Amino acid sequence: GCQSGSGDSQTLTAGTAPGFPPFEMKQDGELVGFDVELLEAVIAASEYELSGWEELEFKSLIPALNNGNVDVVAAGMTINDDRDEAIDFSDPYYSSNQAIVVRESGSFSPSSLDDLSGATVGAQKGTTGESVIKDQLIEAGTVPESNYNAYGNYVLAVEDLLNENVDVIIIDVPVANSFVADRPIESAFVHETGEQFGFGVQSGNDELAGALNSGLTTVEDDGTYRDLTEKWFGQ
Ligand code: ARG
Repeated sequence: GCQSGSGDSQTLTAGTAPGFPPFEMKQDGELVGFDVELLEAVIAASEYELSGWEELEFKSLIPALNNGNVDVVAAGMTINDDRDEAIDFSDPYYSSNQAIVVRESGSFSPSSLDDLSGATVGAQKGTTGESVIKDQLIEAGTVPESNYNAYGNYVLAVEDLLNENVDVIIIDVPVANSFVADRPIESAFVHETGEQFGFGVQSGNDELAGALNSGLTTVEDDGTYRDLTEKWFGQ
């Protein structure tokens, strides 16, 4: 919860959804990743303090903000109009498109959404990858609704791809790069969505959104942002 009081520092609880490397994942039981370190650095540059992290399913993050269980969300969350109606966002801190990921050894090598005709497709519930499936594949009649497998997190989706339970998963490009690095899967093509990630806050919490934006500027100017991208994306 957020305690107000002029002059006193306000304590925040952050929410995220691990299983989305390198943004947030569990390593030896610990929550780590780019979002975790970036938000911690941004909050350290503000008058707020972070009391801890709540780990939730991605689709539960906006409800958790709205019912006050968390004050801020850092989860590779794409800023879009639907979400903007429910919550507010910080300025963007990362850009992404959607990767169409398949098994490396498979004979299936699609190069466009049309090539996914009749395929079984997977994504994490509540994500923009799921929106591509619903809005561009199911709606267009390219795949029947029954061919869509919705997962609680992308680790489970990748396991199902490896186990040949699904032909394709649709996932943010930087996260696809992380999964394909040490598994026999590959990105077949990229569907350009031009997404930008922002930190989520409760609708109307302009004070916190403003503090996050100033904090983002601070960590961009002092080299912390660049150091974190080098550490987590190797670039
Ligand atoms: N960028 C996508 C979206 O906003 C996927 C985010 C999934 N994040 C996560 N931590 N699992 O819908």
